[in-house]
Amino acid sequence: MPSSNLAPIPELYVSYDSAQKLKVEAGDLPSWDLTPRQICDLELLMNGGFHPLKGFLSEADYDGVVENMRLTDGTLWPMPITLDVSEDFAGKIETGQDIALRDQEGVILAILSVTDKWEPNKAREAEKVFGADDLAHPAVNYLHHSAGKIYLGGPVTGIQQPIHYDFKARRDTPNELRAYFRKMGWRRVVAFQTRNPLHRAHQELTFRAAREAQANLLIHPVVGMTKPGDVDHFTRVRCYEAVLDKYPAATTHLSLLNLAMRMAGPREALWHAIIRKNHGLTHFIVGRDHAGPGKNSAGKDFYDPYAAQELVRQHQEEVGIEMVDFKQMVFVQEKAQYYPVDEVPENSTVLDISGTELRRRLREGLEIPDWFSFPEVVTELRRTSPPRAKQGFTVFLTGLSGSGKSTIANALMVKLMEMGGRPVTLLDGDVVRKHLSSELGFSKEHRDINIRRIGYVASEITKNGGIAICAPIAPYTATRRAVREMVEAGGAFVEVHVATPLEECERRDRKGLYKLAREGKIKEFTGISDPYEEPANPELRLDTTGIEVDHCAHQVLLKLEGMGLIKA
Ligand code: PPS
Repeated sequence: MPSSNLAPIPELYVSYDSAQKLKVEAGDLPSWDLTPRQICDLELLMNGGFHPLKGFLSEADYDGVVENMRLTDGTLWPMPITLDVSEDFAGKIETGQDIALRDQEGVILAILSVTDKWEPNKAREAEKVFGADDLAHPAVNYLHHSAGKIYLGGPVTGIQQPIHYDFKARRDTPNELRAYFRKMGWRRVVAFQTRNPLHRAHQELTFRAAREAQANLLIHPVVGMTKPGDVDHFTRVRCYEAVLDKYPAATTHLSLLNLAMRMAGPREALWHAIIRKNHGLTHFIVGRDHAGPGKNSAGKDFYDPYAAQELVRQHQEEVGIEMVDFKQMVFVQEKAQYYPVDEVPENSTVLDISGTELRRRLREGLEIPDWFSFPEVVTELRRTSPPRAKQGFTVFLTGLSGSGKSTIANALMVKLMEMGGRPVTLLDGDVVRKHLSSELGFSKEHRDINIRRIGYVASEITKNGGIAICAPIAPYTATRRAVREMVEAGGAFVEVHVATPLEECERRDRKGLYKLAREGKIKEFTGISDPYEEPANPELRLDTTGIEVDHCAHQVLLKLEGMGLIKA
């Protein structure tokens, strides 16, 4: 094995004394507040995880990486590492200038000497790097909807590591890992990259890989950013710790990697291999569909499940790390053992549980068999993902003024409180406008702010296991969608369109507002002088004309029961 695997790797940090001085001087520089993804990238740039990069890519290096996975000097590098900023900020920056890079609390982490500033062709980047300009790909969605319009490039001077308060002892820089391997006398070490909890199939795969490579094992999970919807890293690390004692202690190590994944399949696998080489690893496991992003907008896989192995195989020698490739592992019932899918004995019964099926079983509180996972892991997962009937959720009633939203909401609240079990909060339109949004009017901008506030509060309630019932008009589709996204990060969102027709609402005119609106005494009145965009696919649609409130609230309860959110 080349000795370079254990020798220290160059970092971009300056000495402690220089850092203190630079920090003071950098206080006067223009500052860029890094996004969570940029903080991950910066950490790996500074600590040598992205060696040989010396900063965020210049335009020429970016072009090379996008087009043929190479920097201008010919070095293999498959992933654009760019600093995307807003047009506003870029407008104030000249090339040749230094800028301070700060974390989200304002701490200066590094200085970027800007050599390049350009507007990238994002569609080309999506096509070349991710294989398709398709928003179903999480990184393409990020590129178009979250990343800034302008890229800045240039060398980075590292001042300090990003601060982590969680699992400090389990985080290692490349040089810390190299030192650990030196100390332990580990000469051959195989890395297992993962963004999922470890189940029995993974354990079997890692055992086999270590045996095959005659190497020690590093479990090297990503704790930076993974695929949206993944199990959060706090839960995962507790799961990894729970199974660590099922590995021989003298041969296995767990270390957390603060990488922001892009889910770029083959290119990502190659990038992961380079990162592991930088961390002192000699071998790297690539399984089926490595860093796969799931289905594209046509319902097909973005990448061939073994394309990642193919690309890493082509370049492993150049990278200086050996791939240990694996087919999917499946459980063979008759043998009570895991096998790679292509080695399953003939006429045997193969068992497997997909990620989707596992999530369904967790959601519905169904059995997760011992052959699939470890009881300790299942317990951790159940703690984080209790069955739906124990999770928080939001019922979002939308409709015209006077449609019956508040009345249904009140009846629903009482019925849910009668059932007990979870705290219930009512965020009624009028009540919210009094307590949360008293300074707002009814322009589109103000209605949006109002609804987003409601969405934020509802999402917090939902995340913390409560029930939020919202009853605003919420006339705009895009804002309702934004609220749904916020809430669904922590639980279910049930949109109820109270579709009572305008004529009926106006006939009722309980608050006398329609009359005033018709007379022009209230401006921008929804349905009269302001639009209401009807929900296209609400979970439930109710017309309250001639129907008792009790019955409407009951319809909502039936819906909640059907979705598994309340138990009969
Ligand atoms: S929105 O569009 O979702 O922000 O509206 P919301 O917060 O639900 O507030 C609606 C209540 O405010 C009263 N009101 C008006 N509604 C609509 N348009 C105008 N211009 C307006 N001015 C005052 C009205 O009482 C609404 O209450 P509900 O319960 O819907 O009848």
